[in-house]
Amino acid sequence: MTETQFTPRVFSGIQPSGNLHLGNYLGALKRFVDMQGPDMETVYCMVDLHAITVWQDPKELAHSTRELCAGFIAAGIDPERSILFNQSQVPEHAQLAWVFNCVARMGWMQRMTQWKDKAGKNQQNASLGLFAYPSLMAADILTYHATHVPVGDDQKQHLELTRDIAIKFNKDFGVDFFPITEPVIEGAATRVMSLRDGSKKMSKSDPSDMSRINMTDDADTIARKIRKAKTDPDALPSETGGLEDRPEARNLVNIYAALNDQTVEQVLADVGGKQFGEFKPMLAELAVAKLSPISSEMARLMGEEAEIDRILARGAEKARAIAAPILQQTYEIVGMVGAGKA
Ligand code: TYM
Repeated sequence: MTETQFTPRVFSGIQPSGNLHLGNYLGALKRFVDMQGPDMETVYCMVDLHAITVWQDPKELAHSTRELCAGFIAAGIDPERSILFNQSQVPEHAQLAWVFNCVARMGWMQRMTQWKDKAGKNQQNASLGLFAYPSLMAADILTYHATHVPVGDDQKQHLELTRDIAIKFNKDFGVDFFPITEPVIEGAATRVMSLRDGSKKMSKSDPSDMSRINMTDDADTIARKIRKAKTDPDALPSETGGLEDRPEARNLVNIYAALNDQTVEQVLADVGGKQFGEFKPMLAELAVAKLSPISSEMARLMGEEAEIDRILARGAEKARAIAAPILQQTYEIVGMVGAGKA
């Protein structure tokens, strides 16, 4: 069986931990919306089981999960056209992850940069779940036989591991059961950087709130953060070559391009020669125009908690209809007695 024999299906996930920020939106969520359409089934997940690999306050986890769901919908994910749910409501993810824990090798996990970054020098004290995180991620994807996974650049290594797990499983059991998934890392904003330091990724764990734009920020806050963003004293170039060694300038141009559905070349053709004093207000105006409708819709949806819970439950039902037979077949392949009967 080759990849082309799998029905094209998109899967991706976001952790409900802390705030949804501009990096998540441009690197992932906005692209999830763009992939929604008649050609491919789209499955999007709030990965709450991943979130608890580091400590989460239970009340905040529940709030973040609902807020993230509101963010998905406000950004344009239609629960009628995409399957939208939280991971813990579909037990097949954790069940398949266990099988993959027995396929993946310790050495593979030890090489993961996210493990090294998050566990740091204190590996002995990190959770076992944090170590096994990429195996659960592979299960998220492969329990839907997903063929395409849109993500930001930071998830590339995890997707390579997902391919390695699929390849090893297929080889170990002499089957062509799991697809070799394609990472989809595209667009001008696959790596949105901190507004305070162009060498660091924009991240929810950065202690400085000024380093990121949160999807819940109001217009004044967005404008202030952009006004204060670190830049250099030079004017913007007219061509991409002129952004080399100017990480902060490159980041703001990338953000502008991604927000405005343009290429970096197109943006530079318009703004080349302008000083940041002129460009920053343009960017702030664009960001407010694009993000404010999303944040106000998020706030409105957060007032309808029961409706959000209903959407997640309905999405989970649809997700299970795909995931359960794939898990059953996996169990059969592995040799689990009774697997065919569910
Ligand atoms: P998470 O929750 O850290 O981020 C969600 C998505 O946002 C992207 N992203 C960024 N893109 C551009 N610039 C940034 N600064 C930036 N920060 C975050 C991430 O690349 C990601 O696409 N392990 C995943 C969640 C996950 C998953 C999956 C993803 C679990 N299972 C299966 C895809 C498929 C994560 O922690 O993403």
